[in-house]
Amino acid sequence: MLHKKGFVSWLFVISILLTACAPKTQVVDGPGLATIQSDLVNQLDVEKIYATAEELTKEPRVAGTESEKQAAAYLIKELENYGYDVGVQPFTFERYVMPEKTDLQLAGFEGTFTPAPFHYSVSGTVTGELINAGHGLKEDYDKIDAQGKIAVVTVERTYFYELVLHASKAGATAILIHFPEDNPIDTWTLGKHSDDYIPALALSHKDYMKISKNMDKKATVTIEGARVDQSESQNIMVTKQPDAEQDASTDIVIIGAHYDSVDQAPGASDNASGTSVVLELARMFKDVTTTKELRILFFGAEEEGLYGSKKYVSAMTEDEIKRSVAMFNLDMVGSADAGELAIQTVDGMNNAVTIPASQAYEALNGDSLSTDFGGRSDHVPFHEAGIDAALLVYSPLEKWYHRPEDTIDKLSKDRLLQVAKIVAASTLEMTLPTDSKE
Ligand code: BES
Ligand code: ZN
Repeated sequence: MLHKKGFVSWLFVISILLTACAPKTQVVDGPGLATIQSDLVNQLDVEKIYATAEELTKEPRVAGTESEKQAAAYLIKELENYGYDVGVQPFTFERYVMPEKTDLQLAGFEGTFTPAPFHYSVSGTVTGELINAGHGLKEDYDKIDAQGKIAVVTVERTYFYELVLHASKAGATAILIHFPEDNPIDTWTLGKHSDDYIPALALSHKDYMKISKNMDKKATVTIEGARVDQSESQNIMVTKQPDAEQDASTDIVIIGAHYDSVDQAPGASDNASGTSVVLELARMFKDVTTTKELRILFFGAEEEGLYGSKKYVSAMTEDEIKRSVAMFNLDMVGSADAGELAIQTVDGMNNAVTIPASQAYEALNGDSLSTDFGGRSDHVPFHEAGIDAALLVYSPLEKWYHRPEDTIDKLSKDRLLQVAKIVAASTLEMTLPTDSKE
């Protein structure tokens, strides 16, 4: 279930374009050297972070499976050991199960094909004539009769799910989507389920060349075993109440990370790294008296569509949302092979998270950190609720993102510790009484 591209990749391309004109961080107020060198921050133990990541990466933690549940149980046990009351927020979501079999045959043609299903391709076996539908856009179907036929299209630029829906609407019974040049075809997604889909397969350029010379032959497309299951996942939550002098209107500071992974990937970088750092921050905070309420959250089912964070935000009261002043999201915060540390917000603007984080980064490294556009993780639902939220991530991504090679040996202890220190210093600065920060 490797799904990193599809409609999301267009968002990604757009976000890259927008990044070029994103405003640069203006450091206003945040933790300085005193906080980043404080005893509390120095107490962060990267060996503990690494040990948690080792524990979590023994197998993939696909949302809704037993292994995600085991990861949740591990987090609960550790948090309880630290002395926290741990909350569990269960929720259901629709999990797509990839097909067991996909096949493409041409009647009277000797060669073989290796098409790949999209994430969210529906099952079905159909035989019919092939028809070239150009780029698969609505207007392409105005010129042809695709009724009852298998459409062959070449990707230009649109969402994949739209290509499938256009073909379906034109009466085609299946669609073969060709990727020009040497694009990998095994990681694409339609992004979401629809009852209107017809069976859809991705074609390599090589396979397409074979097919284009045999458009007169009847084709059979087979997709078996793909389905959407009702599944269960859960968020793990800790709330640290502020000191007794605060009243019910105290601000809330939130730190979160998703702990699920995609199928086949042990998810060391994505996102055992963020999970392990957040667990260590929980340990650091356990005996600290704060002036603000602190919430430490571990989200389930992020990889299936941000289900955990959406659930958490939808269950917040209006008062809780109003009191929430910052949400730090840690996702992919330890890869030795990714680019530099980045901080991303949905609107590319600085906020109550980026400003202290950038200042902490500057205290550590001597130069500031700019804010980029980015909305591919659990900070999005918080942003949409009006809460200042940002993602910390090493960017650009490592090349084994969502791959089986995303293993523990790819994590850098220095990089994990850097993020732990930045988030610790930023959140301490926000939550410690003023007189204890000197
Ligand atoms: N860890 C990634 C998010 C990510 C990717 C952050 C690139 C920053 C840069 C996350 O787990 C993920 O894979 N998200 C999906 C989208 C999600 C809504 C299913 C993605 O980006 O494809
Ligand atoms: Zn992730």
